[in-house]
Amino acid sequence: MKAAVIHQFGGPEVFCYEEVPEPQPGSGEVVVKVAACGINRYDLYLRMGAVFKDLAFPHVLGADVAGEVVAIGPQVSGFEEGDAVIISPGYPVDPADWSIRPMNRAPSFEVTGTHTWGGNAEYVRMPARFVLKDETHLPAPEVAAMPLVLMTAVHAVETLGQVVEGARVLVQAGASGSGHACIQVARVLGARVATTVGSPDKVDLVRAAGAELVINHRTQDFAAEVLEWTDGVGVDVVVDCVGGSVFAGNLKALRVGGIFVNFGLVGGIKAELNFRELFFRQLQLRGSFMGSTEELKRGLHWLAEGAVKAHVDRTYPLRDAAEAHRYIESRAVKGKVVLIP
Ligand SMILES: NC(=O)c1ccc[n+]([C@@H]2O[C@H](COP(=O)([O-])OP(=O)(O)OC[C@H]3O[C@@H](n4cnc5c(N)ncnc54)[C@H](OP(=O)(O)O)[C@@H]3O)[C@@H](O)[C@H]2O)c1
Repeated sequence: MKAAVIHQFGGPEVFCYEEVPEPQPGSGEVVVKVAACGINRYDLYLRMGAVFKDLAFPHVLGADVAGEVVAIGPQVSGFEEGDAVIISPGYPVDPADWSIRPMNRAPSFEVTGTHTWGGNAEYVRMPARFVLKDETHLPAPEVAAMPLVLMTAVHAVETLGQVVEGARVLVQAGASGSGHACIQVARVLGARVATTVGSPDKVDLVRAAGAELVINHRTQDFAAEVLEWTDGVGVDVVVDCVGGSVFAGNLKALRVGGIFVNFGLVGGIKAELNFRELFFRQLQLRGSFMGSTEELKRGLHWLAEGAVKAHVDRTYPLRDAAEAHRYIESRAVKGKVVLIP
């Protein structure tokens, strides 16, 4: 089969579109023909060698796959060839961890396509228990755009952020793949949402997702804008994928007793914490990594209903994976970029 393979860490130029052996299903596994594979910022970090140094090369990235079952291994029930499916964007790779709950706290839990080959290929092999029937009836690129960011958004916004009807929420980087999903999940839960963007051409997208207050972080002080929006009180929850560069402002924007959920570091890995501010204002800091199969299913249900929508900014043929990564790196991307084998 053809795959976008990396043989070393580095920039987008390390992708090689080449022939590799087609996967065969082992016991408990299925092989899925990839119709579309969404790209996440995580794939870029992995490609650069910024997450793990121990990948075995050649390697194939890609966590978000929509496709069809084409081969079924022994000890698999509930699937037939031709089933439209979505693969879980994260799971515990060690079967000894499969009963651990919540799943994303299992020691061997990782993003799909990290130490196993992912979906930047014509076919991908997966344990059948982490393959879901696709009941969305949406085009494959829209489906493949969503699993990882939906799993993340449900876990970060609902489970850890405890967002409920009427809550006021600040979502950082609202036009990012993950931010766009977080805005929509917060809206489904009945919250009012403020968000940040880095350019005016992203405003329409985040408004359509349901953001009430849109702040251009390049020209406006987001914390001051959020405080004004909340009559000086601050938001109940900040959902943040940016990290270091906005940490101080994020804490300023929270109300007393507010919840800060971080799941990303696109704006820096470090920040300073003032402990007086932390305990005087009774802030709650929570770290969020991916989510459970139940949280993924909850998000996919909203996607199928139309309560949450994918925004596929661009699709690229798989052979142009490098171009697709460059586009995401440029920061111009609105929503998601998807590869088509
Ligand atoms: N923990 C988890 O489970 C999880 C899940 C999903 C994503 N993440 C993390 O969340 C972050 C975002 O991922 P994503 O896939 O949503 O990203 P993405 O779609 O590539 O969007 C990232 C956006 O962040 C904004 N940004 C703000 N400060 C930035 C900076 N200094 N450099 C570059 N961009 C900056 C940019 O938008 P503007 O120009 O509009 O500001 C950029 O387009 C990443 O760190 C990713 O690893 C974590």
